[in-house]
Amino acid sequence: MSKMHLICDLSLIHTNAKWRYPGSWTNYAMYGDPALYLDIARILERGKFDGAFFADVAGTPMVNGSMTDTVELGVAWPRHDPIPMVAAMSTVTERLGFVTTASMTYNHPFHMARMMASLDHVTRGRVAFNAVVSGFPQEAQNYGYDTTPDHEWRYNRAEEFQLVLRKLFDSVEPDAMIWDRATGRVADAAKVHRIDHVGEHFKVMGPLPTAPCPQGRPMQVMAGQSGAGMRLAARYADLQFAQGPTLELKAKHRKRLDEACAAEGRDPREVGILWAGQFDVVSGPAEADENRRKYLEQHTPRLLHVFLSQWWGLDGYPLDPDAYVHQTIEEIRAAGVAPNWGYLDIAMSITTATTTIQEYAQQWLESLAELVGTPEQLADDMEESFHAGGGIGGFMIAPRSGVPAGIARFVDEVVPVLQHRGLFRTEYEGRTMRENLLSDRPGA
Ligand SMILES: Cc1cc2nc3c(=O)[nH]c(=O)nc-3n(C[C@H](O)[C@H](O)[C@H](O)COP(=O)(O)O)c2cc1C
Repeated sequence: MSKMHLICDLSLIHTNAKWRYPGSWTNYAMYGDPALYLDIARILERGKFDGAFFADVAGTPMVNGSMTDTVELGVAWPRHDPIPMVAAMSTVTERLGFVTTASMTYNHPFHMARMMASLDHVTRGRVAFNAVVSGFPQEAQNYGYDTTPDHEWRYNRAEEFQLVLRKLFDSVEPDAMIWDRATGRVADAAKVHRIDHVGEHFKVMGPLPTAPCPQGRPMQVMAGQSGAGMRLAARYADLQFAQGPTLELKAKHRKRLDEACAAEGRDPREVGILWAGQFDVVSGPAEADENRRKYLEQHTPRLLHVFLSQWWGLDGYPLDPDAYVHQTIEEIRAAGVAPNWGYLDIAMSITTATTTIQEYAQQWLESLAELVGTPEQLADDMEESFHAGGGIGGFMIAPRSGVPAGIARFVDEVVPVLQHRGLFRTEYEGRTMRENLLSDRPGA
């Protein structure tokens, strides 16, 4: 039986009120200083986690036409480039991997290939690239566009981006380096190749001017959920991030990915899914209620409003907290703004005609934490979800409670239960992230 893999999501532990949660960031300098992240890296490695994840969006979202609320309330803001923190965290660990995010819409594949290859060396083969197609208009406006380029164009560019990445990673053969002090010969030129790529979006001569990557290629993660996103993942990803709020939706998503892999002629077992979620480990219902109360208390109505507006991808479209959800969504559709339609569909399906935006925002916030319970309950839920989702991959989970204590509690209380049930490793299988994460794949 395949074991599950675990990645801890650290993307927003300093924003969205999580930094204020009792016990969070206590005795650490706020954001920017690496001390807390280094401690979290040590804790995750103690728990044999596969890795830590940093999402990224390089823009400041607008709400009702202004950035004021985003900045003042710190909703997905500030955000640093995750790469330097990954490098720092890798120096205090030996096996923990790192998933770091960058845009395929706004970056150049030569730059990203060189950065990821270099990071693969610094981490000694422990990096994965979450390559995204970017949907936020304010990010587009930082890179010279008036708004987000259309979906088809972004996926078209992403397809070529992946092709160029692959050609560049393969441009230096694994045994190209010689480093012979006696002769002074550094590399075998016959094993270092130009790529001479000329396409619709990129023109790249190559080769990649780095020594071959410790992992061959850094691992590739993708998070698109549309048909185009599934196709790209089926072609290039080692792992896909997905949201499967119910067992049924997990099974359905796995089936879609299997079909996409089959259409690409790829064995579906080569592409694992990491289910995104939030966790809170408690001793029983009383603590669960108390934590829930504290969590909701941090999310003032104003903050929730900003958070929901960002989540829906409205960026500037006005949202009235007292208006009805159904009516608002109809107006959004009529206005032709380009939000995250999937999230709006979910909102429509679980509200009534008289549910207000504010009521829904609270309901939705609560639903974000799926894994709340005692260690045994969490292990039960994870076991059930893992199997419902096809049993290839695992979870990418964010702490809902204070950090680092909330993460340490998962490591000390939940991990042993998963290990006891044979669902999770007791020792790392290898040295690189690829060796650990793909240890149970066909041909490994
Ligand atoms: C778990 C998860 C993590 C994601 N992380 C990021 C991220 O860090 N940055 C980003 O711009 N988009 C992120 N996305 C969004 C996707 O990359 C993608 O842009 C979005 O799903 C829209 O693409 P689609 O139309 O193919 O679904 C994430 C999505 C999921 C499900």
